[in-house]
Amino acid sequence: MGQPLLILGLETSCDDTAAAVVQEGRTVLSSIVSSQDSFHLPFGGVVPEIASRCHLEVINAVLDAALKQAGVAFSDLGGVAVSYGPGLVGSLLVGVSVAKSLAYTLDLPLIAVNHLEGHIYANFLTGAAITFPLLSLIVSGGHTSLLYMEDHGQIKVLGKTRDDAAGEVYDKIARELGLGFPGGPVLDRLAGRGDATAFSFPRALMGEKGKLDFSFSGVKTAVLNCIRRETEKGRQINLADIAASFQEAVVEVLVGKALLAVRQKRTKQFLLAGGVAANSQLRKRLEQVLTREGVELVRPPVEYCTDNGAMVAAAGYYYLQRGRLAAWNLNAVPNLGFGPLKNK
Ligand code: KG4
Ligand code: ZN
Repeated sequence: MGQPLLILGLETSCDDTAAAVVQEGRTVLSSIVSSQDSFHLPFGGVVPEIASRCHLEVINAVLDAALKQAGVAFSDLGGVAVSYGPGLVGSLLVGVSVAKSLAYTLDLPLIAVNHLEGHIYANFLTGAAITFPLLSLIVSGGHTSLLYMEDHGQIKVLGKTRDDAAGEVYDKIARELGLGFPGGPVLDRLAGRGDATAFSFPRALMGEKGKLDFSFSGVKTAVLNCIRRETEKGRQINLADIAASFQEAVVEVLVGKALLAVRQKRTKQFLLAGGVAANSQLRKRLEQVLTREGVELVRPPVEYCTDNGAMVAAAGYYYLQRGRLAAWNLNAVPNLGFGPLKNK
């Protein structure tokens, strides 16, 4: 048997600068994430110009730290994987340029990973045996999609959001409430102390029989209107009640649609993915519902739900196994979908 294959994973698609070394697509030897939250906090959201500049400033240090933590040298690596889209073009370009330079100078395979697929592969870092076909729900700051995966690289989009992504709505509501950025973790914590029945917010598209698309702009507007109304009336807003009622509406829709997909496709496994997969209520409720259906839920550890290099390295390992290598003219693709894979 040869040496275990080590892949370096780079992730700069949005506002986290991340690098990781993963062994055989499964074992994390190191994972370094440099967060830019404090730079974007005053603006209540990610400012693309600031994001790309921050990536440039820290990427070399993040890369060095990832190698050091793993206890490996460049010469131990078997490939360089990078998220090349979807994401912010200036941010993606930093990771793509670094990955290309590294792979070229080290004479290593260059692997271009779809960032969304990367999120799914965070589940391969759990130690769970993954069996195809499977279903996956990606819920992040930019996407909310239900996917059917027949095998590695064979992905069918069953449903997606028609407007806002779930994470985006968390962030916008937190901004309105002056709770900072990103909004997901803080609203999640607040919701734990609130009454989920205090306010009734809409659950969009639940009535559409058999349909697996999502829509979250309605719940966002309802929550924002509710906050403004209460403020105008001079009432003290109970933040915990708003957070709990909002979270209840979002989680009910996500879990409801996941259940619908499971009943249509009858897979044995369901993989949760993306930043919102860190949500305590979503993790709990999905597990309860899927267990009743006899379906195994696999969830990444919370640290690998949000953007990180380890998920990119894991996905890169399986791309490499299939011989899916990138050319030297690889570029950032901000609006990347699921590529040559079938849609709906
Ligand atoms: O996957 P991710 O790191 O970046 C994208 O690819 O978009 O996701 C970030 C999103 C943010 O919108 C953040 O508010 C949300 O994930 N998020 C959460 C939680 N932790 C992060 N949303 C709800 N509950 C959480 N605990
Ligand atoms: Zn992401």
